[in-house]
Amino acid sequence: MQHSVALVTGATSGLGYAAARLLAAKGYGQVIVTGRSLARAQETAAQLAAETKKQVFTPLELELDTPSSVQSALDALVKRGQPINFLLLNAGMVPGKARVLTAAGVEASQAPLIGHHQLTAGLLSANLLSPNARIVIAGAEPARGGVPMFSYTDVPAFAATYCRGDQTAAIEALIRSGPNVKYVPNNAYADAKLIVAWWVAALARRLPSGMAVYAVSPGGATDTKVVRNAGPALKYLMIPIVNLIPGMNQTPETAASRYLQASEFGTDVSGQFFASAKGKFSGPMEAQLHPHLHDRASQEAAWQAVVKVSGVDFATAAI
Ligand SMILES: NC(=O)c1ccc[n+]([C@@H]2O[C@H](COP(=O)([O-])OP(=O)(O)OC[C@H]3O[C@@H](n4cnc5c(N)ncnc54)[C@H](OP(=O)(O)O)[C@@H]3O)[C@@H](O)[C@H]2O)c1
Repeated sequence: MQHSVALVTGATSGLGYAAARLLAAKGYGQVIVTGRSLARAQETAAQLAAETKKQVFTPLELELDTPSSVQSALDALVKRGQPINFLLLNAGMVPGKARVLTAAGVEASQAPLIGHHQLTAGLLSANLLSPNARIVIAGAEPARGGVPMFSYTDVPAFAATYCRGDQTAAIEALIRSGPNVKYVPNNAYADAKLIVAWWVAALARRLPSGMAVYAVSPGGATDTKVVRNAGPALKYLMIPIVNLIPGMNQTPETAASRYLQASEFGTDVSGQFFASAKGKFSGPMEAQLHPHLHDRASQEAAWQAVVKVSGVDFATAAI
């Protein structure tokens, strides 16, 4: 473990920060922590080193909304030349009332997946993932449905109505919050995490045989900044009410420990989405069996849409 390298995106707060601390405690020899600016990443690395008394944290600038920033991060990782054993794609956000698009025309809560795809493809093409690497990306329970105030889009129905049945075009429309997509922040978040779950299934089919990828919902941990942009109904009504129910919320450390747990799963469950049991936001996580998550046509359409929006396929990932 002392020679193992982990990279955690979105480590400047919440679950990414907690995960970085847990990885150091577990004995990882290097934990690369990313922040949108180098200053924030450096501040985070210094704070983690002071808290843990371990000199294992390396700061890295990574703004997932900006392809040139992802490319610069890849260049820095190539220069280091150390293969990564655990790639934790944690960064994400619940978007706010006003629809925000990145300069590349991607809806803000969808943008982390586009940047994570570029990062993962770049690392694979540069041989910077170890032969048995584990990749975990943050999912969330709304992707499976049944979470009050969050609804994901019925993509096949949307595709049939607006895109002549073309699911790739439908998913691209959701990623861009484009024509015919009614922007509702919580639903945009549910769609972003549904596309994450589909992307994971498609990526698993493309990874070298020793590697594995999982979507993992950390579960409810409201003591982070995740809902900083969310509307008052979610922030001041739903979350306080839900938190009154025992077992519906947990500390950031407990939530982040799910990521580490998944880092030890086998290749036999690669491509699956793990989340809390039905009706819960904490406790043991389970592989999610909902049929829409396992629809192969939707999974492949999500992959193609992400490739199209990012402009990055594995074969073309440039370093
Ligand atoms: N907390 C929960 O209850 C919960 C439940 C289910 C899933 N999740 C998921 O868990 C993950 C971590 O959430 P959290 O609760 O720790 O939230 P958080 O405290 O807001 O942390 C999110 C981190 O991601 C970074 N980030 C977001 N968008 C980014 C982008 N485009 N480029 C670079 N960095 C970006 C943030 O950086 P800045 O601070 O600079 O924006 C921050 O470091 C998210 O993917 C979230 O969707 C959380």
